Amino acid sequence: MSKVELDECATKTIIEPFRIRSVEPIRFTDMGERRQLLSDAGYNPFLLKAGDVLIDLLTDSGTGAMSADQWSGMVASDESYAGSSSYYRLEEAVHDITGFKHLIPTHQGRAAENILFTTIAGEGDVVPNNTHFDTTRAHVEHAGAEARDMIIKEGKKPSSRHPFKGNMDIEQLEQTIDEVGRERIPVIMLTVTNNSGGGQPVSMANVKAVSEIAHRHDIPLFIDACRFAENAWFIKQREEGYADKSPKEIAGELFSYADGCTMSAKKDGMANIGGFLALNSDELAKECRNLEILTEGFPTYGGMAGYDMEAVARGLYEALNEDYLRYRVRSIAYLGDQLRNAGVPIVEPTGGHAVYIDAKKMLPHIPPLQYPAWAFNNALYLLGGIRGVEIGSVMFGRQPDGSEKPANMELVRLAFPRRVYTQSHVDYLSEIIIAAYQQRDKLSGYEIVDSPEVLRHFSAELQPLD
Ligand code: F0G
Repeated sequence: MSKVELDECATKTIIEPFRIRSVEPIRFTDMGERRQLLSDAGYNPFLLKAGDVLIDLLTDSGTGAMSADQWSGMVASDESYAGSSSYYRLEEAVHDITGFKHLIPTHQGRAAENILFTTIAGEGDVVPNNTHFDTTRAHVEHAGAEARDMIIKEGKKPSSRHPFKGNMDIEQLEQTIDEVGRERIPVIMLTVTNNSGGGQPVSMANVKAVSEIAHRHDIPLFIDACRFAENAWFIKQREEGYADKSPKEIAGELFSYADGCTMSAKKDGMANIGGFLALNSDELAKECRNLEILTEGFPTYGGMAGYDMEAVARGLYEALNEDYLRYRVRSIAYLGDQLRNAGVPIVEPTGGHAVYIDAKKMLPHIPPLQYPAWAFNNALYLLGGIRGVEIGSVMFGRQPDGSEKPANMELVRLAFPRRVYTQSHVDYLSEIIIAAYQQRDKLSGYEIVDSPEVLRHFSAELQPLD
């Protein structure tokens, strides 16, 4: 027998850690067609038909591909109204990963927010967060309370390369508690990763520090856990002492500093729908369940079918898989690298679920209240059929009193659905984005011609300015 001695080959390409066994065609359109489609949609990409979009990066929420294991669990689900075994499977997974005692399933993240804030927040209260996501802010305000963002200063600077730009400003938190008084702060939230600030992670040290302050003042700490697995991966990569720990161990430690979490299972639950509220307090759980029955459903299914709960119970573990997380975070960084090399200003470093383009820096000729990020996002659709989302003054500019204030940043978020697109899709994306960037001087701003009072970005109609 001949003996073949080969040197092991170190590869630098991080491949998709899956094979594709079911495909969904995407439709190609030309620019003339897209011009008409965008105008028909009131220049609001939310109002486009998905079939008219080539690469859809509107959101990573509920848009991922499920695994064969998830689908098989769904077929074998228990659809009993009360006491379904699928509920108990989800409860076991949530308990195993987060350590929280009570599970309150909901149809998605915002339903968990609704139950939490309606139950614990009221008129005159203040809810601190590193940065509230738009639905979180809307629910805090709907409960009559004030949503206050207190991100560290590096988190507001797109070009800063701080490794944990999602961290909360501890000093500002302490000052807020002193100023407002403990009794007017029903909960402190931490959003991991910080979606509205660039998908940036929160460090374990910061979670610990916030937890210490919260508990010293007897205030509960809740985690907005939508992207908890991506956050755990960043801690593993960037924070001293965590390199040898598994993402599950890291996530478990992070949750151990908190009293509960809200979760959209449409993100790191790897499911197309679902969410939950999980918490330790027996008393609060009882109150929340009363509202859950009213607004979502019986406590052992909440807003989910048995098969959704099966998908989430499996998805939570798949999101913590190291090969998956390595590929996930690398796919985002890969696009970021190509854009940076071509001079396109992006939020640095790239985050966990999306690349964020800094439209304020790219388009200084378009003032914030003419919505530069909206303009660039629409240019990407026109040029290449790509749909991203504006995270800027259309989303955040309208104040509760009806006035307009420019947002901190004007970003175009290109969020990657989980396990959906391949490297060649990303190569195409970077070609289109760079082409749009090279023609940036030709872009003009927008004005809003019709908009609802809350969450206006979803349905507002706009028109381009000359
Ligand atoms: N919290 C964060 C940080 C989110 O990113 C989202 C949703 C929610 C809460 C609400 O969850 O959609 O299940 O009700 N973010 C999606 C996005 C919509 O596109 O970023 P939901």
